[in-house]
Amino acid sequence: MCGIVGYIGKRDVAPLLLEGLQRLEYRGYDSAGIALHAGGKAGGLKTAKAKGRVRELEARLPKRFAGTTGIAHTRWATHGAPNDVNAHPHMDNDEKVAVVHNGIIDNASELRARLTAEGVTFLSDTDTEVLAHLVGRSQAETLEEKVREAVRHIEGTYGIAVLHADFPDRIVVARNGSPVVLGIGEKEMFVSSDVAALVSHTRQVVTLDDGEMATLKADDYRTYTTEGSRTSAQPTTVEWEAESYDMGGHDTYMHKEIYEQADAVDRALRGRIDDRFSTVHLGGLNLDARDARAVRRVKILGCGTSYHAGQIGAQMIEELARIPADAEPASEFRYRNPVVDPDTLYIAVSQSGETYDVLAAVQELKRKGARVLGLVNVVGSAIARETDGGIYVHAGPEVCVVSTKCFTNMVVSFGLLALHLGRTRDLSVADGKRIIEGLRKLPAQISEILANEGEIEKLAAEYADAKSMLFIGRVRGYPVAREASLKLKEVSYIHAEAYPASELKHGPLALIEPAMPTVAIVPDDELLEKNRAALEEIKARSGRILAVAHQVQEKADHTIVVPKNEHELDAILMGIPLQLFAYHTAKAMGRDIDKPRNLAKSVTVE
Ligand code: F6R
Repeated sequence: MCGIVGYIGKRDVAPLLLEGLQRLEYRGYDSAGIALHAGGKAGGLKTAKAKGRVRELEARLPKRFAGTTGIAHTRWATHGAPNDVNAHPHMDNDEKVAVVHNGIIDNASELRARLTAEGVTFLSDTDTEVLAHLVGRSQAETLEEKVREAVRHIEGTYGIAVLHADFPDRIVVARNGSPVVLGIGEKEMFVSSDVAALVSHTRQVVTLDDGEMATLKADDYRTYTTEGSRTSAQPTTVEWEAESYDMGGHDTYMHKEIYEQADAVDRALRGRIDDRFSTVHLGGLNLDARDARAVRRVKILGCGTSYHAGQIGAQMIEELARIPADAEPASEFRYRNPVVDPDTLYIAVSQSGETYDVLAAVQELKRKGARVLGLVNVVGSAIARETDGGIYVHAGPEVCVVSTKCFTNMVVSFGLLALHLGRTRDLSVADGKRIIEGLRKLPAQISEILANEGEIEKLAAEYADAKSMLFIGRVRGYPVAREASLKLKEVSYIHAEAYPASELKHGPLALIEPAMPTVAIVPDDELLEKNRAALEEIKARSGRILAVAHQVQEKADHTIVVPKNEHELDAILMGIPLQLFAYHTAKAMGRDIDKPRNLAKSVTVE
């Protein structure tokens, strides 16, 4: 998704902005651009834009392209094709205003028609350009007032940064539904849509709220609402280090992040386990024992991988706390006029904390008076702030577009929540203890799985010729199969489909033949024999089988053996070898693993 970077200070701005854009590359984009103040009022604004990667923009920067104040952008096309002209920044007809924008302006065509009728010439097909013209045509005296006037005309979402040739001492930014974070430096200020672009310069950040604006000057910033009243947003310290964004000797972020899982899980558990009462402390939950006991149902909302983590979470909550629980894609939930029940605990799950569909579902729930918790990775993100409390999953920054370590930490966090809810109800001390022991074993067991990478790599080469693959699992194994199938298709582009193993006979068995391999999740639990029967059915039809199991499966052509944990927690581990399987399949096929085609890290638009 689109990314914004801005800087005002004393340093040469173009290299700083390029470096910031590179830090945002992981989000996915199709073009990039920069605008800067060329020096004083007389200097005016200069821009450079290019379709493609940031390095193409760098190659195209004019020789004399210097200044100490500028804004930059990576674009993910929504209105208009990815090309040089549609890349941001966009300018008004007098070339006095430059705007970069994340989000979507819903009434752009209406505004475009009105501005065209007033004599404005549009150069691009973007919705953003209307903003540049609105700011440029404003008669207001200050840049703040001009921007305020412009955004009053806008319906939709935006995170924007604006330069004006007549106001070279400032950058004005505004947020409504799309993140804007200020980075506070020493006699210099930064702005970005993502802390990833800030942490190599400063760890002091101010996250704007929706409806908030800010003026950045080299030695000062102030925040206020779009109505003009002052706000008092205070800087907070970002915990994530700049090094967390480096590849650390791995060939891709995906590989690095798969390998970070043992540490990440350890972090998610740290300081939360209460051995005395065989339960956990979840400080941010804002749910006392009485509230927890009053919950009659749990509904988990998320998208993609986070939705799959929610499915496993729902399973754990039902098993450990015996509260009816289910997960639903937030993108569907928000459009079906959901019945909101006061006794239901809603949980929004999101890595980025910015996914628009999840945020919109949370807002709809809040509007209807529901209690909503967040299970989020990015501290201070929109969903974390909109919810009534929650659990940070503490996976650390996840740069690869496809989620791996965050998925695992989300599932572990759901395990903690399930244990907590269970222990306020009927889960015995002995069972609480058993689950805690299981949780503590996870980091070592993850390392054990990863030590098997060589074998998984060979298996990936064996199956990489498949045009399509079926993933099956039953009950606890089914969401694992769904997530593994998503991982494979995202990074390798091999078509993959997941089914409950119990549904095979009801249709998908028709697909089975030697060219259609099946990946089967076969835990040693009460359904083992049922799962084995499914393997028989596939084998009888000459299907190839790769099993992920706690013991070698006779009917399978290959088995990846994973360590056994408590049966309620097995799902946490069983997907991990399949992350490596997806990675090695994609690698064997020469795919762009960290940036799969058509995908973005954080989907902040509908
Ligand atoms: C898949 C993946 C996506 C995200 C989804 C939700 O590997 O990463 O399916 O899980 O877009 O994103 P978050 O968790 O940021 O809300």
